[in-house]
Amino acid sequence: MEELFELIKKRRSIRKYSKEPVKKEDVLKIIEAGSWAPSASNNQPWRFIVITDRELIRNIGGQCTYFSLNNFVKEASLIVVMYTERKHRWTNIDCGMCAQNMMLEAYSLGIGSCFIGAYRERKVKEILNLPQAFKIVGIITFGYISEKPLAPSRIPAEELVKWEKYSKENSLHIRKATFRSGMLSLVSRFFMQRKK
Ligand SMILES: Cc1cc2nc3c(=O)[nH]c(=O)nc-3n(C[C@H](O)[C@H](O)[C@H](O)COP(=O)(O)O)c2cc1C
Repeated sequence: MEELFELIKKRRSIRKYSKEPVKKEDVLKIIEAGSWAPSASNNQPWRFIVITDRELIRNIGGQCTYFSLNNFVKEASLIVVMYTERKHRWTNIDCGMCAQNMMLEAYSLGIGSCFIGAYRERKVKEILNLPQAFKIVGIITFGYISEKPLAPSRIPAEELVKWEKYSKENSLHIRKATFRSGMLSLVSRFFMQRKK
């Protein structure tokens, strides 16, 4: 079980991939790992469009790019668009759990991934012929790992916890730490991607 903890800690968002295509059997294994995630009433609201076509990947990548942010998406070997046909109260949580399973399984197979939350949903649906009534919950890029990013810092567990009842003690400190590490990683990514 310590192995699981190591895997969880070592997984990184990977934004640089080799050109090698991801094997179909690995794609299906990743999707299956996602399908074993818990979901409210075992609803399994997740559905996927798996994209390997370079032109299509470039098109979708364009709809995820804002200035230089997310311009790596067009270089991914594979993109998975996660959508749901009928959104209910727990859909985002269900799909989030599914996505984490997928990214951990991918990492264990040597495949890097990055969850993309910023995209022009309407345009992506148009490109993929996905009915506008459906909801895109997220996009995940995949590819064999071609970078070794440093781990963005985490707030130590003991600072996240209030035991038994809420108290205001330390709350401001945590809010500042969250803001600082969030801004830092966004700004550094912005400048690193501008260089490419
Ligand atoms: C809901 C969500 C949306 C995200 N959106 C993006 C995104 O649009 N572009 C990107 O490069 N990374 C995105 N990420 C990845 C985060 O930046 C990354 O998980 C975070 O910096 C922590 O790094 P780590 O995954 O290596 O631990 C997103 C992650 C989540 C969970």
